[in-house]
Amino acid sequence: MSFKILGTGSCLPQRTVTNEELSEFLDTSDEWIQQRVGIRQRRVCTTETTTDLAAGAAIAALEMSGTKPEELDMILCATVSADNAAPSLACSVQNKIEASCPAMDINAGCTGFIYMLETAAGFFAMGYKKILIIGAERLTRCADWTDRSTAVIFADGAGAMVLGPGNSYISSKLVAKGGDAVLRIPSFHGMSPFYEVEPREPYIYMNGQEVFKFAVNAMCTDLADAVEKAGLTMDEIAWVIPHQANARIIDFAVKKFGIKPERCLKNIEITGNTSAASVAILADELVRSGRLKDGDYIAMAAFGAGLTSAACVIKWEA
Ligand code: COA
Repeated sequence: MSFKILGTGSCLPQRTVTNEELSEFLDTSDEWIQQRVGIRQRRVCTTETTTDLAAGAAIAALEMSGTKPEELDMILCATVSADNAAPSLACSVQNKIEASCPAMDINAGCTGFIYMLETAAGFFAMGYKKILIIGAERLTRCADWTDRSTAVIFADGAGAMVLGPGNSYISSKLVAKGGDAVLRIPSFHGMSPFYEVEPREPYIYMNGQEVFKFAVNAMCTDLADAVEKAGLTMDEIAWVIPHQANARIIDFAVKKFGIKPERCLKNIEITGNTSAASVAILADELVRSGRLKDGDYIAMAAFGAGLTSAACVIKWEA
């Protein structure tokens, strides 16, 4: 027994920021960003908190599933940009939607949503009945807005699922290669009068080329392994939902596996990289598009800070 997806939801901030707008204060261009990353515009918080986005996605998923907040047994949130280190984002959402169940956060960088699916599967094995899972980020808060190599990439958004008992979670592969040399978001260092180490800049640091190499390899290897573990071939996968970090990374995987482009979901052009929210936002788009058929196999793959990566195969149970 693992779980089935009872409902999905997503929530993006109101404000759209185009590449042209970024070019007004960064030495960049619409052409460079579209060619090298595949982003045309992204959503950016102006007044919304991470909790607002997470709760918005949660409410949409609860509505679709016909679940009341008081019926939930657990709330999990995957995030690297919660409003507070404590309380957790999950506890803030629990308060906002007036649920009463336990709640906690998971941090596996941009891979967090798939790590969270695995965690949820463990709770269902223990007998939990209804779990709300949310990937939510306000990464624009962590960006150095003078650094063109990161500021153009990261964005804000949230995606959620309500899960109930079922047999949809078919296979998975989780990976971690710990280290902060190529990708990190330092946390607040504090003002201890005793601490002698200079704090790091509190912004996203990324060695783009190193992350790119890791990402291409991780996405292809993890996808292949998760599909094989499911006893399937790539041809039997109806939908691929890859983390939206760079369109070129996605296109590489599409070409390598001969995936039909229309079967590999992409919204990076308009959402940017929303980290732990990205696969959940796409899953919600897919569910709401009405294109999913009972029994369709969905493969998800993600990678990010940790370094972490993961892939899983889910069978859609209508
Ligand atoms: N606009 C214009 N030029 C830019 C730029 C921008 N926004 N960002 C970087 N450049 C410049 C660099 O300064 C460099 O200039 P130089 O040759 O004069 O030194 C040049 O473009 C090439 O930089 P490079 O870092 O080699 O570019 P790239 O082709 O590797 O693309 C990334 C950079 C970040 C888009 C790419 O490496 C990437 O997507 N990596 C993976 C990142 C990722 O997935 N992160 C998310 C993890 S969850």
